[in-house]
Amino acid sequence: MTNKTWDAKEYAKNSKGQEVWAKELIKKLYLDGTESILDIGCGDGKITNMLANLTSGRVVGIDASEEMISLAKSIYKKPTFLQMDALKMNFKDEFDFLFSNAALHWIKDQKTLLKGVHKALKKGGRILFQMGGAGNARVVFSALDLTIPSYKRYFKDFDFPYAFYDDKFYLDLLKRHNFRDIEVNLIKKDMIHDDILAFKGWLETTWFPYLNVLPKNLRENFLAELIENYIKLSPLDSQNRVHIDMVRLEVNALKGE
Ligand SMILES: C[S@@+](CC[C@H](N)C(=O)[O-])C[C@H]1O[C@@H](n2cnc3c(N)ncnc32)[C@H](O)[C@@H]1O
Repeated sequence: MTNKTWDAKEYAKNSKGQEVWAKELIKKLYLDGTESILDIGCGDGKITNMLANLTSGRVVGIDASEEMISLAKSIYKKPTFLQMDALKMNFKDEFDFLFSNAALHWIKDQKTLLKGVHKALKKGGRILFQMGGAGNARVVFSALDLTIPSYKRYFKDFDFPYAFYDDKFYLDLLKRHNFRDIEVNLIKKDMIHDDILAFKGWLETTWFPYLNVLPKNLRENFLAELIENYIKLSPLDSQNRVHIDMVRLEVNALKGE
């Protein structure tokens, strides 16, 4: 059985939702066009490239996935891409902005992350992060609860892969890691997939930890049952689109002394 991880090409095709959110987030950077920026968990690099087109400063994208970094390097030439676990980054006073979209909820050890983040920022530098937050994708989890019992034996040692923190937790964490002028908000977002196929693509691409525990020959059945259960709980709209009730944790703060 081969395990799925990030399939960079599939992610590039199935990440329209994340791209919409990234564009909204980038507008909140209010760049003057000279800043240096680090994009944490840059994935296929398309968002990092958008950032690089908005500044003459150095733009670096880091991601733990070799496949993502290799795809990003092959397409986008302006930013620098580095394969790196965000928990091991060791930049010192290098960036005006640290940016991250749809990535940091994959990192449970936020304390180690924030130590590296603080160190990487220049004096007066700022962070702008958006990640999955408390209550994210509630109906997907309800559909998983309905689907998993028939596959129970494969989920015995399942390790919940996400860290969906709430605003109070993150505010406290930022204060303790010497950030100031902090704004932390949980924001509800309606993620829309144009049809069931697009929904399936998104599930296959970003919910792979749930597929990894299954033998390969059961994965299609599991996905079909999961989708059926989801549609029962959250029916298609009049245009046959699928809506997902996402909650994002948005974080904006300045580096303290
Ligand atoms: C959903 S993708 C988001 C990609 C991109 N930021 C976007 O908005 O399209 C999440 C990315 O986070 C990366 N990631 C997860 N854990 C990481 C870690 N510890 N260090 C660096 N990257 C990580 C994954 O490899 C993946 O490429």
